[in-house]
Amino acid sequence: MRNIAGLNLLSIGGVSLTNNLIAAPMAGISDKPFRNLCYRFGAGMTISEMFLANSDVWHTDKSALRMIASNDVGIRAVQIVGSDPDEMAKAAEFNVKHGAQLIDINMGCPAKKVNKKLAGSALMQYPKLIETILQKVVGAVDVPVTLKTRTGWDKNHRNCIEIAQIAQDCGIKAITIHGRTRACLFNGKAEYQSIKAVKESVSIPVIANGDISTPEQAKDVFQYTQADAIMIGRAAQGRPWIFEEIAFYLTHGKLQKEKTIDEVEQVVLTHLEDLYQFYGEYKGLRIARKHVNWYTKNYVDSDQFRRLFSVLSDTSEQVKALKAFFSKIRNNQKS
Ligand SMILES: Cc1cc2nc3c(=O)[nH]c(=O)nc-3n(C[C@H](O)[C@H](O)[C@H](O)COP(=O)(O)O)c2cc1C
Repeated sequence: MRNIAGLNLLSIGGVSLTNNLIAAPMAGISDKPFRNLCYRFGAGMTISEMFLANSDVWHTDKSALRMIASNDVGIRAVQIVGSDPDEMAKAAEFNVKHGAQLIDINMGCPAKKVNKKLAGSALMQYPKLIETILQKVVGAVDVPVTLKTRTGWDKNHRNCIEIAQIAQDCGIKAITIHGRTRACLFNGKAEYQSIKAVKESVSIPVIANGDISTPEQAKDVFQYTQADAIMIGRAAQGRPWIFEEIAFYLTHGKLQKEKTIDEVEQVVLTHLEDLYQFYGEYKGLRIARKHVNWYTKNYVDSDQFRRLFSVLSDTSEQVKALKAFFSKIRNNQKS
């Protein structure tokens, strides 16, 4: 079976994706409202924000809001993070019990507070521990388990091929490689050579990630790495419709028409409504600020609007201000 641009339809351990474009897990961003938008605009799969394996924090609001619900739209893929194999296995079981259809293991997060507990990308320094974690998690659940990692700990220790092979041997069903080492954090450019090398060295699906922000880049990364899917993170912030733009380009070989102001306004207003509903007004309007910042940053003279928006502390004021902002842009376009 073929989907966009003749790419093979991707099935990860029996979970079939509608296309090969995946929305990256991003803590503080990939919440349910954002994932819903990505699905609406054509993502083949989205992955939740990371869920801490340490059960001491599962009762907190933060963990509760990161849980998947069995009526969530799309593929319910939950990412877990931790370093204790038994805790990781329990976290996987817990999430599957609550509706997760796929478990992704975070081995790429570079944050100091995560790495100092040997979790996230810090694990890349300990292949034996990785093996134990993967075996325990795969053995604990009957849904596919995937792994997300980087190219290595630093430029002198690029071990993503070794890790991909360990993953495959442990029964991991797909591996995502963010084309940077941990030491690179988010600096410099993602390098796709290591992703291509991983693809050549394992038979499980490989997902290429890092710095893909246009349809043209998406096509280049597919062609160069021969990856089975690509994952988009930051480029979807304030532009969740990037998935349909990429799918359109890969299918038709030309760029889709830009969204109109009216269309963008509708997306933003719907997103805000969902945030208020999901988090409640107090938290929802605070989270809305960063999204609105991204949605509006490319419009001429939007700095002043964003400064004003960032101090509004009432949901109806936020909606009113946004409507006024878009109306001004519409009028400017007409004149
Ligand atoms: C704000 C933010 C939060 C992130 N949180 C996570 C996370 O929880 N788990 C994870 O595996 N990666 C996380 N990442 C990394 C992304 O999933 C992705 O690998 C990275 O941003 C590179 O892809 P991009 O260039 O398309 O953004 C995060 C990235 C950002 C910018």
